[in-house]
Amino acid sequence: MKILLTASEMDPFARTGGLGDVLEALPAALAARGHEVSVVLPCYRGLRERARDTGVKIAVQIGGRRLQAEIWECTAPNGVQVFLVRRDEYFDRPGFYGAEGRDFPDNAERFIYFSKAVVELARRVVPPAEIIHAHDWQTALVPVLVRERRLPFKTALTIHNLAFQGSFDGWDFGLTNLPGEYFGAKGVEFFGRLNLLKGGMLFADAITTVSERYSREIQTPAQGSGLDAVVREQAHKLTGILNGADYRIWNPATDTRLPERFSPDALAGKKACREALLAACGLTPSPRGPVFAIVSRLAEQKGIDLLLPLLDRLLADDVRLVILGEGDPAYERELFIASKRHAGRFAFRQSMDETLSHLIYAGADAFLIPSHFEPCGLSAMYSLKYGTLPIAHATGGLFETIQDYDPTNESGHGFLFFDATPEALWDAIIRAKRYFADPPQWQALMRRAMRCDFSWAKAVPGYEAVYAGILGRK
Ligand code: ADP
Ligand code: GLC
Repeated sequence: MKILLTASEMDPFARTGGLGDVLEALPAALAARGHEVSVVLPCYRGLRERARDTGVKIAVQIGGRRLQAEIWECTAPNGVQVFLVRRDEYFDRPGFYGAEGRDFPDNAERFIYFSKAVVELARRVVPPAEIIHAHDWQTALVPVLVRERRLPFKTALTIHNLAFQGSFDGWDFGLTNLPGEYFGAKGVEFFGRLNLLKGGMLFADAITTVSERYSREIQTPAQGSGLDAVVREQAHKLTGILNGADYRIWNPATDTRLPERFSPDALAGKKACREALLAACGLTPSPRGPVFAIVSRLAEQKGIDLLLPLLDRLLADDVRLVILGEGDPAYERELFIASKRHAGRFAFRQSMDETLSHLIYAGADAFLIPSHFEPCGLSAMYSLKYGTLPIAHATGGLFETIQDYDPTNESGHGFLFFDATPEALWDAIIRAKRYFADPPQWQALMRRAMRCDFSWAKAVPGYEAVYAGILGRK
């Protein structure tokens, strides 16, 4: 099949979270199965230097303005062909969605422009794509435009996070240049506002989301972020496909970012990584208790509010805590203050740091994922692979990925809690600490965790079935 994927992130070009990981891995996994795959991204700051100008220029109508876009091109490290839509006034900026904690005020315009450019580009690519696969609100207008213009493509839309919808002031509808009737219940309007994700859901030929459980959760008022009725209406074309982990990048046996490598049969290297992590973070070496860790965007979704009231209790013991993340300034401030209060035991690193993230997955003993909701949760897959046992809220993809430890029949490899409360999280932490104190038992758990297989090869047939379905093929 010929597939054009488009999104606002793709590792290593642009990444704030798991969306970037998926756009790195999925196209390559599809290509490995023999499909013809390329990706379209905005040409963000710094990408021009890695790309070449194709010479192709396309005109994009955005409201009353007709603006040119240049199409640049490069090859991703994994061999996938990437097209970049270049217009510096929109994308040559110090961030992808915003700067200094605030969204850019013209994000509607930037991503409507980008989506239109993607559609124009798709019309010029030879051989033409059969399927355009859009991801999240930033590209959700693509299926709407394809249908409105009756273009010969089938479209799929993947929802990585229903909480982000691309909901903008109704006036921004003018930027779409769609006929007026599209600003209504059967179009891109939602409660008087322009809602790009809602429009994409209505017009895409297929919708997928990143775990089966999340596909059901978002059909409930409690977890539908206001769009649950729309999701239910479109449920006939919705499929949940659990993401994979790219084990070419996330594998402690081959990870060159680590001071020492390790595997289920040779765990010694993990101890070295643990000491290296504590040293790198300026923490007191060799604690008796576990090294806990978090690598995450610091957003409300991630349940930092469940952890904050527990910090003093947790750190009263001889344990360590490392948190790497950036996001909401209120969480950043509280974590920073707590890390000063517990110097030597708690390190907070407020940055985006790929190398440190690998050392954390490798060097920690337990990984905290108290997310209120989690569509998939790639960090759970990565921590399992590195033998860092997850302590997680049983929600969304986490519930599919992590099996709760049951000592009666020696099954499972993590610690789940079911109520999103600090007390429930605390109980799971206590359980983990108890088993950590028994090294042979903990090592057996680690080995089981490391042997889990969430490779993309398992996820790809799900996408192939969706694509084949909308193309009317078996
Ligand atoms: P989400 O996509 O909701 O952020 P996931 O767990 O699916 O959650 O993916 C998050 C990805 O982003 C993981 O690969 C994680 O390691 C990475 N990540 C998040 N914050 C940071 C950071 N500050 N530095 C490095 N990597 C980070
Ligand atoms: C979103 C979700 C996360 C998921 C990622 C990749 O950012 O929050 O759970 O793993 O997308 O699909």
